[in-house]
Amino acid sequence: MKKLLHIIATPRGEASRTLKVSGVFLAELRKKYPGCTVDTINVSTETLPPLTVKRIDGKFALLMGGDLEGEAARAWKDIITHIERFLAAETYLISTPMWNFGIPYALKHYIDVVVQPKYLFRYSENGPEGLLKNKKMVVITSRGGDYGPDSPARTYDLQEPYLRAVFGFVGITDITFINAQPMDALGPEVERKAIAQAQEAARRLAETW
Ligand SMILES: Cc1cc2nc3c(=O)[nH]c(=O)nc-3n(C[C@H](O)[C@H](O)[C@H](O)COP(=O)(O)O)c2cc1C
Repeated sequence: MKKLLHIIATPRGEASRTLKVSGVFLAELRKKYPGCTVDTINVSTETLPPLTVKRIDGKFALLMGGDLEGEAARAWKDIITHIERFLAAETYLISTPMWNFGIPYALKHYIDVVVQPKYLFRYSENGPEGLLKNKKMVVITSRGGDYGPDSPARTYDLQEPYLRAVFGFVGITDITFINAQPMDALGPEVERKAIAQAQEAARRLAETW
């Protein structure tokens, strides 16, 4: 494992429960692969390019099999920079809280920036085809409530199915989730235990990575 892109979608820095778990994963991974490079992008604090009409025009040109020209090409410079940074990684770590049963808007914005035709997927005679091969992803989440398999709230978890769908669409099908939950609903003692449990799962996952 040479290069990992860490995509952070919480603005809470040191206070973040999600990052307490991903910190353990990264620390173990660095022990295992001392030479690995970790590129970190915090999508909630970085200014991402807005999807303006010119940029969307460019997307449709690519969808139709054309090229980026003129103003669309100029407008796409920032998008291409993000796509190249994304494609340079062989492994991805997403650290994201649950927000309103899904992902924070900044992570959705990032996905809308990088998931582009010609670069991450294409339409072929057989339908859509993901262009990413041999890439793996870990998603570490934390949630205020509990959406585990035995919880009555499990159907409200639109976060894991969405991330599996969108990254599966571009070819990343090897995705492991570690969900720290519940963080808020049952008080600090349950929160502490749930973080410790998730950290242990992160440690074990890094060992077998
Ligand atoms: C805007 C916002 C929306 C949230 N929506 C949900 C939600 O739908 N379900 C839930 O269980 N927790 C929700 N939470 C709670 C967070 O998921 C939880 O506190 C999480 O641990 C925060 O992660 P962090 O400490 O890494 O920032 C929300 C928090 C915020 C700030």
